[in-house]
Amino acid sequence: MELHSDAAVKNILGLQLPTDPRWVDLAAINMGAILTDHAYCEQKAATTCISIIQRYSAYPDIVKTLAPIVTEEWGHFRLVLQELEKRKLPLGPQRKDVYVNALIDFSQKGGDEAGWLLDKLLMMAMIEARSCERFKRLSEGLDDAYLRKFYRRFMESEAGHYVLFLELAEKHLDPVRVRQRWAEWLAHEKEIMASQEIRGDRIH
Ligand SMILES: [Fe+2]
Ligand SMILES: [Fe+2]
Repeated sequence: MELHSDAAVKNILGLQLPTDPRWVDLAAINMGAILTDHAYCEQKAATTCISIIQRYSAYPDIVKTLAPIVTEEWGHFRLVLQELEKRKLPLGPQRKDVYVNALIDFSQKGGDEAGWLLDKLLMMAMIEARSCERFKRLSEGLDDAYLRKFYRRFMESEAGHYVLFLELAEKHLDPVRVRQRWAEWLAHEKEIMASQEIRGDRIH
């Protein structure tokens, strides 16, 4: 997967608004906060996959597809935890996640079951896409060669998850509906990103 330019990120991941280039410089001087926030992003990814498995336990394909992702995301959490330990930093408290809360607000609450599943999978794809883009920024923009390599690994992994969630949606739901709703998600995510101030103490 070619992810070396803004155009490639936009084309492959569909993101409508590239991250402000100043973000990586702010992140570089807040690495402790970035690592804590990143750890919780991984924890939430694992937890959400578990909750989807619980709700869709009657769908063997969903269970089988997401079970290894839980392991992967939890592995990511542990890798980030190791980096905090190396720096003698505690995990620390979880901050309020403004970005993810805005995405949750956008997703369907009640209504048809298919719509609920669709939005859950698309919200996961959205977070994977934006995380991937942010990890790409870190993997290219940090001065520390070790951290650049560290983040490259996450970038590649989350790119794979982004594809997996979209494919899972297209497999279980009407692909036309998936594509229409995905376009709405991308447009809405652009608005969320545009409305947020640039902060170097968080991944999104
Ligand atoms: Fe992850
Ligand atoms: Fe992921």
